[in-house]
Amino acid sequence: PSPGWNLEADVVVVGSGVAGLTAALRCEAAGLRTVVVTKARLDDGSTRWAQGGIAAALGEGDTPEEHLDDTLVAGAGLCDEEAVRTLVTEGPGAVRRLIETGARFDETADGALDLTREGGHHRRRIAHAGGDASGAEISRALVEAVRARGVRTVENALVLDLLTDAEGRTAGVSLHVMGEGQHDGVGAVLAPAVVLATGGMGQVFSATTNPPVSTGDGVALALRAGAEVSDLEFVQFHPTVLFLGADAEGQQPLVSEAVRGEGAHLVDADGVRFMVGQHELAELAPRDIVAKGITRRMQELGAEHMYLDARHFGAEMWEKRFPTILAACRAHGMDPITEPIPIAPAAHYASGGVRTDLHGRTTVPGLYACGEVACTGVHGANRLASNSLLEGLVYAERIADDIQRQYAENGLHARVPAPVAHPRTPTHPLLPAEARFAIQRVMTRGAGVLRSADSLAEAAAQLGRIHAEAVNSLAENGKTAEPGVDTWEATNLLCVARVLVAAARRREETRGCHWREDHPDRDDADWRRHIVVRLNPDRT
Ligand code: SIN
Repeated sequence: PSPGWNLEADVVVVGSGVAGLTAALRCEAAGLRTVVVTKARLDDGSTRWAQGGIAAALGEGDTPEEHLDDTLVAGAGLCDEEAVRTLVTEGPGAVRRLIETGARFDETADGALDLTREGGHHRRRIAHAGGDASGAEISRALVEAVRARGVRTVENALVLDLLTDAEGRTAGVSLHVMGEGQHDGVGAVLAPAVVLATGGMGQVFSATTNPPVSTGDGVALALRAGAEVSDLEFVQFHPTVLFLGADAEGQQPLVSEAVRGEGAHLVDADGVRFMVGQHELAELAPRDIVAKGITRRMQELGAEHMYLDARHFGAEMWEKRFPTILAACRAHGMDPITEPIPIAPAAHYASGGVRTDLHGRTTVPGLYACGEVACTGVHGANRLASNSLLEGLVYAERIADDIQRQYAENGLHARVPAPVAHPRTPTHPLLPAEARFAIQRVMTRGAGVLRSADSLAEAAAQLGRIHAEAVNSLAENGKTAEPGVDTWEATNLLCVARVLVAAARRREETRGCHWREDHPDRDDADWRRHIVVRLNPDRT
């Protein structure tokens, strides 16, 4: 449909986590007319669920160079070193600016930042807030700043597609807004600069730490718009997610790496610390290695989960340092003060995404991406713990600076966007809402922690069938599912799932968080490279 209402802006930011709100605040401060659109409420994304914190070389004796080394090791040969260098050198300043914006991090008795450790870090370098409520505090501070500055926001606005002008340049986005009074229904924000900050795609799997809104909308939009997407096969599974049963679906409670950072042990049912001897850092090895260690032990013992034992912290430390996790465990009838808690890996973070340069520019002119939706090159094949909030901050700032520069140098604002209607061709029908669950089961079975040519081929075939059913229904009776948040989300999940599976089938090696049972070794001769996908916008 053609948009029923329009707003005009210099820049539209899609998404309201750490990346989106940081970009919006800096654009607004630079005098650009900025609009933030977000699918649910301003504080509803993944940011507010982050527990561990934000990594930066802020501690006594730490250096960006050491942070760089740890990031490159975790990334398993696929990080873009320049992108990482940018991250770690600009990171400390970006965290300080976040503090100036109003975020309050935990401090030691003498007023220094209280830094913790997480997997893959050789030093204490993670700043945290409220013990284990770091993301909630960052989100609170940014949302308050956005409101205080009067940045225009449209909530409950699901982004549909990128609008482009006749020359293929960005002209805005189309949106489906539910229940927002004057902006109800399908509409558009017209702007020559669009910043995608839509977060991740954890909902493509059955069990994930991600909230329900993480449905890959930004990557799907970028694919439909013909932008390059890279590294989608590298889905990070967090090693320690509270195990609530083999059939548990949807968002699951995270048990932060910081719990291991403060000395918790991973044990099997007999109390054996199985990570000792597997890696010099044992439980604090990079995340992919710990997730693999847990999965292997589960296979050896035929167990559905392992345990995290932190009884030795005692009640006071649990209550002060990890109140969120303590409450989540208790809500599920477990008490980490008196018993080891059951944990298993679950989908956590998309290391890949929409490919960008060092200024967050995608391959479509005027379209930017930052945060989890982006692939800036800093994560490679496996993101280092707590680098994601930092990446959101640093690259959002760089994007705002680039947009400002573009306006100053090229007069972006002089362009009158003349958008074309968003594509909805017969090859791209909307899926019924229930398809979401079918997609999640297919992906968990075939493209989860452990993958093989057979499991991936089966996943591809089943996803193909889901797609074909929707296409046939459209061709035979002219019907597509009713447009709405649920049907768009299911459609986006299928779009990203198919590309993810295709990339995972191609990468015939094991590297970082991509684990192929049939190709168990890392193959630097053939595979020290990225899988970059670009769909033909007319044929998605
Ligand atoms: C955690 O607290 O374990 C999550 C940190 C991260 O994903 O970077």
